[in-house]
Amino acid sequence: MLLIRKMQNKLKDILSEERYLHTLGVKQVIVKLALRYDVNLKKAVTAAILHDCAKDLSDDILLKKAGDFGILIGEIEREQPQLLHGPVGAMIAFHNFSVYDSEILNSIWVHTLGNSFMSDLDKILYIADYIEPNRKFSGVEKLRRIAFADLDKALLYAFDNTLNWVRSNNQVIHPTTIKARNQILFNQRKRNRGRKIS
Ligand SMILES: [Fe+2]
Ligand SMILES: [Fe+2]
Repeated sequence: MLLIRKMQNKLKDILSEERYLHTLGVKQVIVKLALRYDVNLKKAVTAAILHDCAKDLSDDILLKKAGDFGILIGEIEREQPQLLHGPVGAMIAFHNFSVYDSEILNSIWVHTLGNSFMSDLDKILYIADYIEPNRKFSGVEKLRRIAFADLDKALLYAFDNTLNWVRSNNQVIHPTTIKARNQILFNQRKRNRGRKIS
């Protein structure tokens, strides 16, 4: 794996200035979240720095690279190739940045849509991406507070915010995000039942 500093320099050459600043914002927040939720700091910082390494690729290149890497391209991804920047980014992190840690690669892979089996690293990357200092949307301050109080609650809030946006913009809802949201609810209910029994 390359040194964090080397990764950052390499990314500066491939990302737009705005995207690079966003990446530094995600890095800044993920450090705090990793300390709060006891997640490996080096893995968290590496995931944050590389999470959008494929985000500035054109739709055609994303589709081409996804095909070359053997990534499953569904009907929704074909219509919205930007949804592939997570999986393609994970493969670029592996091939071009020598990241071989499956936990880091998985967090990059799932950072756009989530999935049903999110680790704490996956969750803090998803949230850091959502609340980094450059983000401005109604409710972001509330989410920033929840993020440090209850990680699953924050994730649910973020999923709901995304789904509301997708619905109100008449976009197709990706089933992977619905499954991820359902899983958080199942986990919460299981935890609550456990509390009642004990
Ligand atoms: Fe992204
Ligand atoms: Fe991002």
